[in-house]
Amino acid sequence: MDKSIEIRNICKSFGTGENRTQVLKNISLNVQKGKFISLMGASGSGKSTLLYLLGGLDCPDSGEIILSGKDIAHMKDKELSKFRRNELGFVFQFFNLVQNLSVEDNIMLPVLMDGKKPEKYADKLTEILEITGLSDKRKSYPNQLSGGQQQRCAIARAVIYEPGILLADEPTGNLDSKSGDDIMELFRKINKEKGITILMVTHSDKCAAYADRIITLSDGRLSD
Ligand SMILES: Nc1ncnc2c1ncn2[C@@H]1O[C@H](COP(=O)(O)OP(=O)(O)OP(=O)(O)O)[C@@H](O)[C@H]1O
Ligand SMILES: [Mg+2]
Repeated sequence: MDKSIEIRNICKSFGTGENRTQVLKNISLNVQKGKFISLMGASGSGKSTLLYLLGGLDCPDSGEIILSGKDIAHMKDKELSKFRRNELGFVFQFFNLVQNLSVEDNIMLPVLMDGKKPEKYADKLTEILEITGLSDKRKSYPNQLSGGQQQRCAIARAVIYEPGILLADEPTGNLDSKSGDDIMELFRKINKEKGITILMVTHSDKCAAYADRIITLSDGRLSD
């Protein structure tokens, strides 16, 4: 099977001199295409740091990150931005929706930012609104939605291009338990139906259990 995420011997530290802390110590991980992985670990263990590195938002001190067969360190800025927009989806704890845009315009934001014709994505938009259960909210604004609905809107936006990989940092951290379950059901659905590889950081055992595999970051190292 194809590999979706390959992390080889990643090291990452912050600070200098005696304030230097090594957050990731020679981490390696392989994730097959279409898998759903949960990443757990204590606060400050480096989970978000690892996700930022995978998203190309920060660089490791050493090691390689290969996503969908491409080494992101060797991409030029422009190529990396394009890769990030098309191949990666991001979901965060705080939904980061644009308040003065409707649900459908928030979901279409990546398409508009790319200067693509929205008409071409009309069917995709209808489909993703259905999958996320937001069809009747498409004209609503974020402040008219519940937390769970806002997160579903953020997920719809993250997958409008059907990226190969979805990176999620505590996507249920700001939600009640029922809404959290709904989000996990939605992740399971897009993972199975769209074959999107998911790497999700969570502090919840219950949410983590939705994944195929749970890995833990502790003392700078990963373990199953
Ligand atoms: N830009 C930065 N500059 C300096 N230190 C940083 C930076 N980013 C993260 N750190 C440090 O790296 C360590 C790991 O942080 P990180 O945010 O990855 O933890 P986390 O596992 O996501 O924690 P949480 O569960 O609380 O979100 C922390 O000690 C943090 O202070
Ligand atoms: Mg974090």
